[in-house]
Amino acid sequence: MSVEGNNATAPSPAVAPGGEAIEPVAAARDLARRWPGGIDPRVPAIVPAFDAPFFQAGLAGYSDAAMRIVARRHGCPFCVTEALLDRTLLAGGRGFNKADLGALHDNIPGGAEDHPLACQIMGSDPAEMAAACLKVAEQGLRHDKVYRQLAYDHLSPDERSEVFDTHLRAPGGVQVGRIAADPREETCETLIDEVNAVDPALHPDTRSPRHPASPRALSFETIDINLACPVKKIKSKARGGHWLAEPDGAIAILRAVREAVPAGVVCTVKLRRGFDDTAEMAANFDRILDAAFALGYSWATVHARTVEQKYIGPSRWDILRQIVRRNPDKLIFGSGDVWEVGEIFRMLSYTGVAAVAVARGCIGNPWIFRQARQMLRGEPPAAPTLAEQRAVLEEHFRLSVALNGEHHAGRLMRKFGIRFAAHHPAAEDVRRRFISVGSLAQWREVLERHYPTPG
Ligand SMILES: Cc1cc2nc3c(=O)[nH]c(=O)nc-3n(C[C@H](O)[C@H](O)[C@H](O)COP(=O)(O)O)c2cc1C
Repeated sequence: MSVEGNNATAPSPAVAPGGEAIEPVAAARDLARRWPGGIDPRVPAIVPAFDAPFFQAGLAGYSDAAMRIVARRHGCPFCVTEALLDRTLLAGGRGFNKADLGALHDNIPGGAEDHPLACQIMGSDPAEMAAACLKVAEQGLRHDKVYRQLAYDHLSPDERSEVFDTHLRAPGGVQVGRIAADPREETCETLIDEVNAVDPALHPDTRSPRHPASPRALSFETIDINLACPVKKIKSKARGGHWLAEPDGAIAILRAVREAVPAGVVCTVKLRRGFDDTAEMAANFDRILDAAFALGYSWATVHARTVEQKYIGPSRWDILRQIVRRNPDKLIFGSGDVWEVGEIFRMLSYTGVAAVAVARGCIGNPWIFRQARQMLRGEPPAAPTLAEQRAVLEEHFRLSVALNGEHHAGRLMRKFGIRFAAHHPAAEDVRRRFISVGSLAQWREVLERHYPTPG
């Protein structure tokens, strides 16, 4: 997981004409009256534990298993991994530089507790995407070489050697992040269980029971195809959101993946509302969305910004609403400008999406999920106490150490601390202190000084 840089820009309000009048409390109440848990029953029919109309979005550089587990312990019913490049997966985690997003170990479930989970894959070539998604679906059951053959057999010898020279280790090399025969080997599960074992007081209700490893601990409930990431093309090859400008290629990827993975494996897609604001790109979006559903994709998460917008400027909930209205029988999830709990219910009510992706609004704020559940129960959403803030910072840190090692966790937790500070009564001061943290010892000092333990 990259610890450098982030796209965490300042909140912008979504464009939702007429939406100002929506009262989140009333919207939550109406939803809870309509459906158990406030969620369209078609969603838990696909993923049984997805029992509330919100989830944690993929967030490259943040949403590793530690963040996901903290979110789940606060009521988040479903999480998405950060986007992993298909080639990274086919190469067993090696062969790419930092610009290539997503590390393999961040896309492995963090034990039995880290479910249900979507594995998000992104790429440029239908055959590579299909092979990578098949590898995810099969948990790497076949030899790595076989997946690579599936991905690259159609290439000419020259293209093939270019791909292997540039991107892949020689077939047959030791695969980093290989899915082992013993599922406990090389996964985060052992580490997370160890953390829980040394700290048995940690969430006794939600802690995963110690049990023999099951294949489920490794598997994913869904595979999510990323047609949304705005990061630039490499060597003029489209990927992520850039596919919205090339609908034939996008559809070829969706088709290749759906045909490659077994029919029982749930596939979904994440996409932007368009590449830009032109009518041509809006038509491309419609074509890709229609094709996804026709091919059997179970839901589409629409980030209501364009690719050109990246993460800046308002999300167009008005356009999202039109998309939902044009597709009344399809499951559309929404993303963009969900900064606090009320916006979950505003987006649900205004746009009619079946579920809301919480992204920047949950970085340093797992309580948003607890608050959303409280609102669905008709209770007032509770802000975290200082003691809760400290407990979660420590918990997140322990999980992160288990996953990433102390050095890396220290750097990550500086980043998270800056975001957690928003809840502190002296938010700006604490934020500045986290920003100036240069070592783990200093991080702990901020905790001791600003988050005193009672008594
Ligand atoms: C730092 C960062 C990393 C992101 N990484 C991913 C990713 O890996 N996969 C994905 O589908 N979306 C990713 N997104 C997009 C978010 O899931 C979400 O769609 C977007 O931030 C809009 O929601 P927001 O305005 O409520 O934050 C990322 C966004 C940010 C800010």
